[in-house]
Amino acid sequence: MRTAVTLYLVPKYPCHIYEGQLPNQADKVLLTNYHNYLGGASEILDWSTCNLTYIFYQRALGKQQHPLMEDAALFLLCSIVFVFLLLKLFAAHKHLPPRPSSSLPIIGHLHLLKAPMHRTLQKLSSQYGPIMLLSFGTWKVLVISSPNLVEECFNKNDIVFANRPQLSSGKHLNYNNTTMATSSYGHHWRNLRRIAALEIFSTNRLNMSRSNRQEEVRYLLKTMYAISPHKGFSFSRVEMKSRISDLSFNIIMRMIAGKRYFGEELDDLDEAKRFRDTIRELFEASGASEPSNFVPFLRWIDFQGRVKGMIALHNRSDELWQGLIDEHRKSRTDDSLTTHQGRTYKTMIDTALSLQDAQPDTYTDEVIKGLIMTMISAGTDTSSVTIEWALSLLLNHPTVLKKAKAEVDNQVGQHRLVDEEDLSKLPYLQSIINETTRLYPAAPLLVPHQSSDSCSVGGYHIPRGTMLLLNAWAMQRDPAVWDDANTFRPER
Ligand code: HEM
Repeated sequence: MRTAVTLYLVPKYPCHIYEGQLPNQADKVLLTNYHNYLGGASEILDWSTCNLTYIFYQRALGKQQHPLMEDAALFLLCSIVFVFLLLKLFAAHKHLPPRPSSSLPIIGHLHLLKAPMHRTLQKLSSQYGPIMLLSFGTWKVLVISSPNLVEECFNKNDIVFANRPQLSSGKHLNYNNTTMATSSYGHHWRNLRRIAALEIFSTNRLNMSRSNRQEEVRYLLKTMYAISPHKGFSFSRVEMKSRISDLSFNIIMRMIAGKRYFGEELDDLDEAKRFRDTIRELFEASGASEPSNFVPFLRWIDFQGRVKGMIALHNRSDELWQGLIDEHRKSRTDDSLTTHQGRTYKTMIDTALSLQDAQPDTYTDEVIKGLIMTMISAGTDTSSVTIEWALSLLLNHPTVLKKAKAEVDNQVGQHRLVDEEDLSKLPYLQSIINETTRLYPAAPLLVPHQSSDSCSVGGYHIPRGTMLLLNAWAMQRDPAVWDDANTFRPER
């Protein structure tokens, strides 16, 4: 049978044959496909008797466009416009939260963000409302600044928002987003919180490490006493920031590993220095400010070598955490207790190693190293920054300081230091702490969450994969909620 067909070669079919030549096997496949596409017989059986006319369309040479090509292009264009309009219609129908109109291609609203971010977002919220949807590059970011909407996120949609965005610092510094503050909802997530609730933050465990905290406070007071003038009534200038920071690092490190790395009276100066340097670098490298988080193609470039730097830093920190675990493993006794200055107690690593004995697959060294990192990054700066603000507020509000002193004198007396147990008898001191955290929250946007599914908040549609930022700072200074919102007033 003779197959009569005219084939038009288009750029989509890159055949390299010329009029008069017989096609090779690969070209035959392409030509057959195209022949079928034109509605011809299902297969060209006999290529030698086939009447083929090859017409090359090369726009660059200015040759005529075949009408079929024009139809195809027109069809493609119409389809794109149709799909685009359909998507637009669909999005409008979904009723997304308000968005600032100044979004730019590729970067979205990133150009609007100036430090400090919570203040910038508060200004935008005052324009666009307590719920708004921004674009940080390819990320959709939901910004909430109303308590009712927070409740909707964490009550009605608690599981949907239990995920964390997978940022590059989480990937390269936090064991591929498997630590407590970076992992997403699931079995591992639940397991980590179970360990934290039962084995790290239970009342029993916190009571066991109480003497560490008392001892560290005494260390701090001792160093301050040493530099205070003993004769006469003059005052000494004291730099408190670093002292308070040393205090909270030592408290957490003793809880984790029974070691002191900061301030004075250290056991191993070299190790302490290595530790401090690495922790300082970790704090600097953490966070979401890495641009490739939001503009993914930058990941392939890494022109500032940030990812390489993070990987090197991770290797250094991993070595330190592993060193602590190995040290504990070597010196373990049957009851797994650590002794520090004559006192014996169980460190977090001791507890984790006991759990590892029973369930080695669940409590791997990597999980323990993740716990160490989380405790250091979540529990140190947050506490020290809050104490620093509280001191500063007290010094700037002498009447509040006077009232607090009177309360302590009445309830505790002058013969001993205030202890954790006294807190329930000191409501004014508690109000000072609350008012400090209201005005100066240590994490003003909390820690970002991410939606694992689409949901609705405030009547708006929130797409799956949206990052959630809660502007605690804005809510805690909202004049609609608080009288005289920017004033430090523990009596409120
Ligand atoms: C003034 C002191 C502190 C403040 C203001 C603070 C604040 C926060 C905030 C806002 C979060 C994120 C909550 C979220 O959005 O999911 C968080 C999480 C966390 N904090 Fe704190 N924190 C403080 C002290 C501590 C301390 C002392 C520790 C440990 C010793 C600690 C351990 C953690 C952990 C493990 C998480 C992760 C919890 C999770 O992802 O479920 N924090 N903290």
